[in-house]
Amino acid sequence: MSGKKILVVCLGNICRSPTAQAVLRHKALLQNRDITIDSAGTSASHKGALPDSRSIRAGAARGYNFSGLYSRPVFEQDFVNFDLILAMDKSNLAELRRRCPAEHHHKLGLFLQHLPDYPKINEVPDPYYSGSQGFELVLDLIEQASEQLLIALTR
Ligand code: 4NP
Repeated sequence: MSGKKILVVCLGNICRSPTAQAVLRHKALLQNRDITIDSAGTSASHKGALPDSRSIRAGAARGYNFSGLYSRPVFEQDFVNFDLILAMDKSNLAELRRRCPAEHHHKLGLFLQHLPDYPKINEVPDPYYSGSQGFELVLDLIEQASEQLLIALTR
């Protein structure tokens, strides 16, 4: 599978999904993979905002670059344009299912769906009201899931 377009989705598109976008694009580039990655939020409340400074700091310490990322809401057209739309948690997946036309429902899933521990571990916890540990956990889960996703996309 090449040329896939993947959209990663959380609530505000300032913590988890921009982190997933930064990690995935970094790993895809290292693997010379032809994959388009974007991110969005089910809420528009942070529209136009840069990623959260705590996400940028934690990600930068592991070598990830957040440049060019700004919060945007999920658009109706995203369900047509993307091949895979992966939510960070079940509530965001439920919201995507509610908005997505039936013909595109097969594109929806959870970002952690390829983890070896799935479905025991199936959500990236919202770090917004957590301390720095929450942001480290987000990175731990997203790094593992990104590796698994890139493997799954070669099958
Ligand atoms: P995210 O985190 O969904 O990972 O971007 C959040 C960002 C903002 C809020 C909640 C979660 N908020 O309530 O404003």
